[in-house]
Amino acid sequence: MPSAKSLKVSRTIVLIGLMGAGKSCIGRRLATLLGLNFVDADNEIERAAGCTIEEIFERHGEAAFRDGERRVIKRLLGQAAQVLATGGGSFMDPGTRAMIREQAVSVWLRADLNLLLKRTGRRNNRPLLKRGDPRAILEHLMAERYPVYAEADIVVDSADGPPEITVERMHAAVESYLAGPAGAAVPDARQANAHPEGDAGR
Ligand code: S3P
Repeated sequence: MPSAKSLKVSRTIVLIGLMGAGKSCIGRRLATLLGLNFVDADNEIERAAGCTIEEIFERHGEAAFRDGERRVIKRLLGQAAQVLATGGGSFMDPGTRAMIREQAVSVWLRADLNLLLKRTGRRNNRPLLKRGDPRAILEHLMAERYPVYAEADIVVDSADGPPEITVERMHAAVESYLAGPAGAAVPDARQANAHPEGDAGR
C-alpha cells in the first residue's frame, strides 16, 4: 500500500456523522497524515454569516441555515482536494448529499449513542440538542440519519479512547479505498467541480 504522502488524493475527503462523533478532531489529524489542508464547514458558515450557528438558528431558522450550509459546502468542494468536516445534518440535505457523492470521497464517522452523549455533553452549543432531552433527540437522529449516512463511500467506527486509534482506522480505510477500483475510477476534483452555474456561495 502506498505511504501517506505518496498517495495522490485528488478528491476532497468529506467527513459526515452525528454531532459528537469527532469529525473535526479526527478530520484535522487525518489531513495532517495525508498532507492536506483541513477545513470545518461549520466554522466556514459562521465566518461567512458573521455570527454563530446558534444565532443563525435563532434569527433565521433551520431552513436558512441549511441553505447557507449547502452554499458553503459547494464552495469548499470547488477548492483543491482537502479534508472537510461537515455538520451532522449536511448529508441529510438532498442537494448537499448529491454534491458530496458526486465530487468527493465521503467517510461516515459512526459512533454509538453513549459516545455521542458523552461528547456532546461537554459543550452547550448545538441548537438541535436544546430542543428537549439530548438522549431522546440523538436516538431519534440516529434512527433517521444512519440509514442515509450509510450511503457514504467509507464507514469508520469512532473509538471511545485516544483520537489516534480512530485516526489510524480512518487513514487505513481511506488509503485502501483510494488505492482500489473505486478510488481509481474517480475524476479529478476540479474537473468534477467544473459546473457551468458557478459558485453561488456567499
Ligand atoms: C447539526 C450539527 C452541527 C451544526 C448544527 C446542526 C445537525 O454540527 O451543523 O448545529 O443537524 O446535526 P456538528 O455535527 O459538527 O456538531
